[in-house]
Amino acid sequence: MPAPTSAELAEYAARRARLLAAIGPDSVAIIPSSREVIRNRDAHYRFRQDSDFLYLSGFNEPDSMLVLVPGRKDGAFLMFVRARDATREIWDGRRAGPEGAVSTYGADQAFVIGEFEKQLHDLLAGRNRIFFTLGEHPEWDGKIAAVVREIREVSRRGAAAPTDIVALETTLHEQRLIKTDAELALIRHACQVTAAAHVRAMRATKPGGWEWAVAAEIHHEFERNGMECGYGSIVGGGENACILHYKENESQLRDGDLLLIDAGGEYRGYTADITRTFPVNGRYSGVQKEVYEVVLAAQLAAIAELTAGNASSRPHEVATRVLTEGMVSLGLLRGDVDALIADGKHRQFYMHGTGHWLGLDVHDVGRYKIDGVARPFQPGMVMTVEPGLYIAPGCEGVDPRFHGIGIRIEDDVLVTSGAPEVLTHGVPKSVADIEALMRG
Ligand code: GLY
Ligand code: MN
Ligand code: MN
Repeated sequence: MPAPTSAELAEYAARRARLLAAIGPDSVAIIPSSREVIRNRDAHYRFRQDSDFLYLSGFNEPDSMLVLVPGRKDGAFLMFVRARDATREIWDGRRAGPEGAVSTYGADQAFVIGEFEKQLHDLLAGRNRIFFTLGEHPEWDGKIAAVVREIREVSRRGAAAPTDIVALETTLHEQRLIKTDAELALIRHACQVTAAAHVRAMRATKPGGWEWAVAAEIHHEFERNGMECGYGSIVGGGENACILHYKENESQLRDGDLLLIDAGGEYRGYTADITRTFPVNGRYSGVQKEVYEVVLAAQLAAIAELTAGNASSRPHEVATRVLTEGMVSLGLLRGDVDALIADGKHRQFYMHGTGHWLGLDVHDVGRYKIDGVARPFQPGMVMTVEPGLYIAPGCEGVDPRFHGIGIRIEDDVLVTSGAPEVLTHGVPKSVADIEALMRG
């Protein structure tokens, strides 16, 4: 992650200012970074910053802490970071150090991480509320509690200890749910490259190829654009498509099968999330097309529901209805559509939700319901729309010609003040368009 530009610094500052205003003057917010995680023995997974931390700072180092103290005389934005260390930097890479945290990232004051508890003691004095997400960073829970206990002991002699620990995510995640223009630019880019990656995968798919080789085409397109996977790619041929979180990507592709690819590239922390299901040999069979058209109709109907003011539960309701009608017309289910939905019979073939918020996390933050009621869509929300039909191999009571067909179609959609904007339009999804692309 490159050092932030002045425009990016201003964006991070504006986000912090909103959070500072929301938590109020007698509070302190504490946001830890991610840690490095061992993959095996002394090899690490690639580092991925905590999304809240990244959102508020753009700082991409582990073992760091961001503290916001509204109204503080020497500045509200404090960072605690790893010390500069010539030897460690030769082995592991550059560190900003406290100096860089101030000069490059705009902290009002910065310290080495080892000073966190000592400084926190002073920062908390006279403040009532700590905004902190308990349980997410267990290495910090006990340390923060210990500082509060110390203050309580001292407070018998004067200084007041904080009384409330408040879940930070309620405030911060509501803020993250509505994307700013700067965020939307990054999401659009992630969507555009991801769409190109899916097109590349369609072109590269042939009978006799391998799921992992098609995954490599996708990942090549991400990486040559400076991106990585926002989540584990699913590349499932034939009945592997019926495994919702298939991740082995290890089978050979067979003539006459479909291939389901669910993959999204992450750009500067923001991920896309696209699924397409297309024929390995470039032409849908009759039965594949019948099922595909049902899923596509459900997806188009659901997308149309992403309008400001509409309940955010509507896409799922609409998709479920269109899919269930399709299940009846295909002969997968028999009976009255309303009754089938009420009894949950559709879940045999459609067992997941129709979408989720999208942003720094693939299943992004923000509540779906408020006081038990589906919240209305607002401009700036980004949601996936991803209906599917999955007919398990050997499924009893179902015509065998449907067996092992799994189809999902997923796009990323921005809620605007007008019509929904599909951000992932760069990869075809109609039968005719996909077949034309694979022919060419
Ligand atoms: N790729 C994860 C999802 O579609 O939700
Ligand atoms: Mn998704
Ligand atoms: Mn997906």
